[in-house]
Amino acid sequence: MENKAVYMTGLNKMEMRDIEVPVPKEKQVLVKLEYVGICGSDVHYLEHGKIGDFIVNGDFILGHECAGTVAAVGPGVENLKVGDRVALEPGCTCGQCEFCKTGRYNLCPDVEFLATPPYHGCLMNYIAFPENMAFKLPEGISTKEGALVEPLSVGMHAAKQGNVKLGDSVVILGAGCIGLVTLLACKAFGATDITIVDVIPKRLEYAKKLGATTVINAAETDVLAEIDKLTGKKGVDVVIETAGSARTIAQTPYLIKNGGCVVLVGMAPQDIIEYNFAKIMAKEAEIKSVFRYRNIYPQAINAIAKGIIDVSGIVTHEFDFNETAKAFDFVINNKQDVVKAVIKID
Ligand SMILES: NC(=O)c1ccc[n+]([C@@H]2O[C@H](COP(=O)([O-])OP(=O)(O)OC[C@H]3O[C@@H](n4cnc5c(N)ncnc54)[C@H](O)[C@@H]3O)[C@@H](O)[C@H]2O)c1
Ligand SMILES: [Zn+2]
Ligand SMILES: [Zn+2]
Repeated sequence: MENKAVYMTGLNKMEMRDIEVPVPKEKQVLVKLEYVGICGSDVHYLEHGKIGDFIVNGDFILGHECAGTVAAVGPGVENLKVGDRVALEPGCTCGQCEFCKTGRYNLCPDVEFLATPPYHGCLMNYIAFPENMAFKLPEGISTKEGALVEPLSVGMHAAKQGNVKLGDSVVILGAGCIGLVTLLACKAFGATDITIVDVIPKRLEYAKKLGATTVINAAETDVLAEIDKLTGKKGVDVVIETAGSARTIAQTPYLIKNGGCVVLVGMAPQDIIEYNFAKIMAKEAEIKSVFRYRNIYPQAINAIAKGIIDVSGIVTHEFDFNETAKAFDFVINNKQDVVKAVIKID
């Protein structure tokens, strides 16, 4: 067994290095990774060295969307065995705090999340990981799909926060990876009218292919007027913002129906944004937000395995592990074309 990891060694610099094969500790499994997805946050760390207060300090391993096969088990492991295929949920939490104890573990202040400084990510061959955060993949779901459970979980959490249900109308602002997985989740939850807005025609084409009922190009069309037209000025039941821009966040009060729910997922570059709260109040609309996800991996895995949700259409590019630096370079220089790139770890 040999283990290699790709380190980010500076802004836009990556290097592959030999590292030790970790020995799984109590209740940990050793996983031979097969696929790692490249996320917007990985790219952001590589280009800018930080996201908000999380600052990369020294050489750093990126990657948090992953799946592979159990290669060894540590003492006390009960539910997994060598050869099981698993998807790893990247946030390990304390289990003791108020948030963990109430099941809202994504809000745990002591979370150790892969590829979020100071915790390294998973762009490597072998990782040791807690058994209880390694979810077994049943027949019918590949490890490539397993790596996509992470972004899909964000979309499913967004749909749940908005209480999307059978017959609902939804507007999703942004058709990047997160907007598209949110579309898949809303469809699975029964939304019947899903409008996706973006400014890139290619992304709107993907949205259409993945089941959006209407797409709007915000570069050419007045989005508010178009939604008014589509809904007879009523607005939609749920608006989910995944573009992460001040402009789209500010549009949400105008798109929502009376009593509807706005869900904020995208992270705008600026913290303070002008927003029409009077409209929200006059409509008695709710505003909810999303921080990653909780208690969703098992559902997401089952939904993919049973064919309820098809994530395979999200992957637009695939690279080999030894081309990781090239892969990041490609993603950075072809942002419009890439919805999701994955690294195949041999
Ligand atoms: N809350 C969370 O837990 C969480 C988790 C993951 C990602 N995110 C955030 O979600 C956002 C989306 O992530 P992504 O990976 O899909 O990013 P992305 O950049 O691929 O997608 C954003 C999309 O918004 C589109 N857009 C830009 N301006 C627009 C406008 N005026 N109208 C409509 N669309 C517009 C872009 O063309 C792009 O397709 C990011 O801000 C990311 O930080 C949040
Ligand atoms: Zn991600
Ligand atoms: Zn906790």
